[in-house]
Amino acid sequence: MTILDVEDLAKGFGGIRAIQGLSFSLRAGAIHSIIGPNGAGKTTLFNLITGLYAPDQGRIAFLGETVTGLPPHHLAAMGLQRTFQNLQIFETMTAVENVMVGRHLHILRGLLPSLFRLPSIVRSDRDARERARRLLEFVGLGAYVETPAGAMPYGALKRLEIARALAAEPKLLLLDEPAAGCNAAETQEIDTLIQRVAAAGVTVVLVEHDMSLVMGVSDHILVLDHGQKLAEGPVDEIRANPAVIEAYLGTRAAEAGAVPAPVG
Ligand SMILES: Nc1ncnc2c1ncn2[C@@H]1O[C@H](COP(=O)(O)OP(=O)(O)OP(=O)(O)O)[C@@H](O)[C@H]1O
Ligand SMILES: [Mg+2]
Repeated sequence: MTILDVEDLAKGFGGIRAIQGLSFSLRAGAIHSIIGPNGAGKTTLFNLITGLYAPDQGRIAFLGETVTGLPPHHLAAMGLQRTFQNLQIFETMTAVENVMVGRHLHILRGLLPSLFRLPSIVRSDRDARERARRLLEFVGLGAYVETPAGAMPYGALKRLEIARALAAEPKLLLLDEPAAGCNAAETQEIDTLIQRVAAAGVTVVLVEHDMSLVMGVSDHILVLDHGQKLAEGPVDEIRANPAVIEAYLGTRAAEAGAVPAPVG
């Protein structure tokens, strides 16, 4: 079963064709990665899928339903969540409060009872806090529950963002560079967490430049170049694809010192 189907999608900004004629489907229950050089259109694709941008052309279906043009909150209510390439954390709020923000969909269900602070809402607030605390434990941040986010280490904040996205109980979770700026130990924690999230039944789409993380966790990889699909398939196939090596992996490997510089 597919969870997401993208058909002939296009989005431009002035003269820049950020996404052009892109089609692909993502299988439910798997870990997918989207890779490609800077400016390939990965974040734009996330913005289109989550309803932040309207496409110029094409169709997006989530859970078999056409959702093209629906606003982000509607898609969120259907089970679509994402994290952002740049941290979107409230620094003065505690970790548990940051996660509770992600639950707002569920907490603010009935506006009227909350105006009168009915007992059901007080209870619901207490439940939300308890659920948020458990989510923090799930992402390995049990020690930071009452810590202001501003006092937490960077790697922990990346996982706090994931906990907040999970609080809305997504079926599909899009992660935009969750390991960017993380050291090796923090990246390993993200790796483990992605696998735990997938094991809990959430379909994951990872955009990431750390190739060892991508190659280690992914079931399936989609390679973007200039807004178009360069290749897609299982990890071993992508790793061996000459076009992918030339456009992307070669440069990355060379940067990492894995490929000897040409002689002469
Ligand atoms: N809001 C915008 N307005 C104008 N141009 C944009 C906008 N968003 C993206 N672009 C352009 O679209 C192209 C794709 O950008 P995008 O951010 O999607 O790339 P990316 O693959 O996420 O890159 P990176 O790996 O650096 O995050 C780039 O040329 C970028 O400058
Ligand atoms: Mg990006």
